[in-house]
Amino acid sequence: MRPNRYLMVLDDRKEIARLDPGGMLGLVQRLGAMTADGWDAASDLALDPVTPRAVIVSGMGGSGIGGDLLRALLAPTAAVPVITVRDYRLPAFVGRDTLVFACSYSGNTEETLAAYQEAHAAGATVVAVTSGGAMAGFAVTDGHPVVRVPPGLPPRAALPYMLMPLLRITGRLGIDCVTDSEVREASALLGDLVMRWGPERPSGENPAKSLAAALQGAFPVVYASSSLFEPVAQRWKTQLNENSKVFACWNAFPELNHNETVGWEGVLGGHPRLHAVLLRDRGEGVRNALRVKITRDLSLRRAGGVSEVWSQGTGLLARLLSLVLFGDLVSVYLALLGGADPTPVEIISEIKRRLGGR
Ligand code: F6R
Repeated sequence: MRPNRYLMVLDDRKEIARLDPGGMLGLVQRLGAMTADGWDAASDLALDPVTPRAVIVSGMGGSGIGGDLLRALLAPTAAVPVITVRDYRLPAFVGRDTLVFACSYSGNTEETLAAYQEAHAAGATVVAVTSGGAMAGFAVTDGHPVVRVPPGLPPRAALPYMLMPLLRITGRLGIDCVTDSEVREASALLGDLVMRWGPERPSGENPAKSLAAALQGAFPVVYASSSLFEPVAQRWKTQLNENSKVFACWNAFPELNHNETVGWEGVLGGHPRLHAVLLRDRGEGVRNALRVKITRDLSLRRAGGVSEVWSQGTGLLARLLSLVLFGDLVSVYLALLGGADPTPVEIISEIKRRLGGR
């Protein structure tokens, strides 16, 4: 296939450097290395040896999605519930037998700081995951362990540093978790996939660049083919928002067959600007696979385009992160094609400023 002239931008290193001065594409390419480093970061953190009866992950935006991935990764095997909280308040049940991860990359996000204070007051086992800020100060004063993540990154680009310590710590506290070999598989696979989907692989043979081209001017609708992959669909949506500066939405099978599929009937003649992206996984199950097929026939024929992206790898961690990598790359490519600088998220900073935050 011959690349179109827009896509040539993505094959031109100098153009990429000019359009991406914050180096977001380079950070996305480091996902595999960060996965291995993040796993090691909490290997010898001093912890009280208690096995919690519930795990809460408090965090917003790019610092919250690690909690959702933890939930997905533990769901098939763990005997305790994992709940993610994106708000100021924690559920009332939080107490001495609850493990609370307070995750804020900057350490200054007010919702997460408020949740941290509640967890501390309730006597929960608290672990702070942060690069510094007020969170690190409170945790040190209160005697809670702190996982220090490398500073100076956009929080959303630090995802493995915010996720992997949670997996390591839950494993160390006796909650079923990923193994060393699953982490090695994921890290190596992400490195290989960067060769296939990264900027060095030219447009004509690079599916991530092709999908970014197909999404130009479109409204992306990202569907996970099973509920286990919900966090990945959400990550795609938020990366499209923050990196590409476009509106997007996400949902997951089978739930979307009970409501959202009806919405596709809304406009006669179809929705030419809607582009459905189906995130597929070989563990999605035969019933969900059939649902995807039926939904394509009945509803998604009204979309301007439909694309499918399959997870890669064997272990669940590798499969989840392979799709995260693909989506992160697409979001940066789409930004570059549209002339948007992927790194700044000025509105988020402005809202924090107006709220009087740090
Ligand atoms: C910025 C980003 C945001 C932040 C969020 C919370 O890259 O992704 O969603 O993650 O505003 O801030 P932190 O992560 O510092 O707690």
